[in-house]
Amino acid sequence: MGKGENVTKTTPNFQYIPPNKFEKTRYSPQGTTVIHTFSVDNPKTMWITRMDRKMDHLTQLCARLQEAASASPYAEKKLVFGDGCQNPRLMMIGEAPGGDEEKQGRPFVGKAGKNLSAFLETIGLNREEIYISNVVKLRPTKESPKTGKAVNRPPSKDEIAFFLPFLQEEIKVVNPQWIVTLGNVPLKAVTGDAKAVIGDWHGKPFTLEDGKILFPLYHPAAIIYNRALSETYQEDLMTLKGLLEK
Ligand code: URA
Repeated sequence: MGKGENVTKTTPNFQYIPPNKFEKTRYSPQGTTVIHTFSVDNPKTMWITRMDRKMDHLTQLCARLQEAASASPYAEKKLVFGDGCQNPRLMMIGEAPGGDEEKQGRPFVGKAGKNLSAFLETIGLNREEIYISNVVKLRPTKESPKTGKAVNRPPSKDEIAFFLPFLQEEIKVVNPQWIVTLGNVPLKAVTGDAKAVIGDWHGKPFTLEDGKILFPLYHPAAIIYNRALSETYQEDLMTLKGLLEK
């Protein structure tokens, strides 16, 4: 085996100590030591090194967010981080996790996950190919006056302001070519335009300052009881599919 070819697949939950530039010792969660040797001459290992750095950066970002949240009014809340492909063409950004997401610790699972699968099928992608996150990484809840149980509510301005810098860093690290926002909250977060409304922005591509292409869509939950909006949403999806195929 030539130099740089003994690359072992890594897992996202790890602690690592880099002894030098091209050799890394990883301690897996099971306590097993895995040595990685990377070669600068081998494009394949250079790519893996880049992905590895990205993964390290995302892991550190989650740790920083967890630390900031634990010293905030949200200390008791479970955080739901972004997940998916680390080198995606497309990053999808929702509003905030709901009950299923909070339970499973992953964005867009349960009912929202079913909507997501239909959405991805329409545009010809699958979940493994994209990266998915939310603006707010906790489930915003209020007490139901009827049942006394926690029910979902839209995220507050304070919650959005707290999580926004972390989302901005997450977008930079993941570095997708395309960003698809679902609804008003991520649209305002990504454009930085507090007056942006999805009714004006949906279904059209916009080039952001850093060259990424933003494609705003309605939030799937908004279309459930609105037939006209549902047709618009389908048209928007077909526009996005056509653009992605170019
Ligand atoms: N809706 C969102 O916006 N995000 C989720 O993770 C689930 C539902």
